[in-house]
Amino acid sequence: MDRLAGILPDVEVATVAPLLAEIEALKQQRHAVVLAHNYMTPDIYHGAADLRGDSLALARQAQATEAEVIVMAGVHFMAETAKLLNPARTVLIPDPTAGCSLAESITGADVRLLRERYPGVPVVTYVNTSAEVKAESDICCTSSNAVKIVESLGVPRVIFLPDQYLGRWVASQTSVEVILWQGSCIVHERFSAGELRAWRAGYPGIRVIAHPECPPDVLAEADYVGSTSGMIDWVKQNRPARVVMVTECSMSDNVATEVPETDFVRPCNLCPHMKRITLAGIADSLRHLRHEVIIDPAVAERARLAVTRMLAVPT
Ligand code: 13P
Ligand code: SF4
Repeated sequence: MDRLAGILPDVEVATVAPLLAEIEALKQQRHAVVLAHNYMTPDIYHGAADLRGDSLALARQAQATEAEVIVMAGVHFMAETAKLLNPARTVLIPDPTAGCSLAESITGADVRLLRERYPGVPVVTYVNTSAEVKAESDICCTSSNAVKIVESLGVPRVIFLPDQYLGRWVASQTSVEVILWQGSCIVHERFSAGELRAWRAGYPGIRVIAHPECPPDVLAEADYVGSTSGMIDWVKQNRPARVVMVTECSMSDNVATEVPETDFVRPCNLCPHMKRITLAGIADSLRHLRHEVIIDPAVAERARLAVTRMLAVPT
């Protein structure tokens, strides 16, 4: 399998080759595309994906694709967003239990209560939420456009849901007042500023880049803060001698082969939800057209508005 040569050891390439060949054949047969988040393992990211990216890029690609079937190699909210943006397509997720601690931290009823508490204050919702929560929101955002989305509203304050750390990061980058919810990501909340300082002490000259879902003291120690694709682009553009990507494990594995001159220090904080997606699961999904993402039409209509409003903001 040419796409994996030099990325995985030869013995692993030989092991996954039959499954990858079957996935390719099924993609042709089903007129399907595989969209993969940057946290997928290298066999999926380099071997099975047709399109890759952060949440914003995946949403745009899902909206634009003419394929009849979209397989989302990512977590459930990403598959729901794809369905919202391209409702005529069949959207599949290999494992429907691939959730997200942020999406689980808030319900539609919570948003309605917040609106009662802060009448007239617009609700900006991170895409890492259910369609039900998006349906109660004015506009969505991702980690790569959150500041621009908040500022696009032209208001003095917003309710920002559900990631308290992304919300605090946004607040530090704008004069708009940000009312927070107490959600957090189980992967990024585990990093500590002390850990970052230890890497700097242990590896003089190391560049430290972080995802904005990390706590504020961690972000204060970073040389760059950005979405998963922002982090990948930063490494490709700056080509540092040594770097640590303060985010999920697979990111470094995926980008390392494209920047061979860079040494990656790799702390491994795994996202258990993302890791539910496997090559075998993708193959099974295509074989049996499962698990299809279905959204209640009344919810979908309102949730779609929040996502399309986000995509209409120039970034
Ligand atoms: P990105 O939009 O930066 O890819 O983030 C998605 C995510 O779930 C990060 O944990
Ligand atoms: Fe959710 Fe965090 Fe996993 Fe991203 S890394 S999907 S925010 S739990």
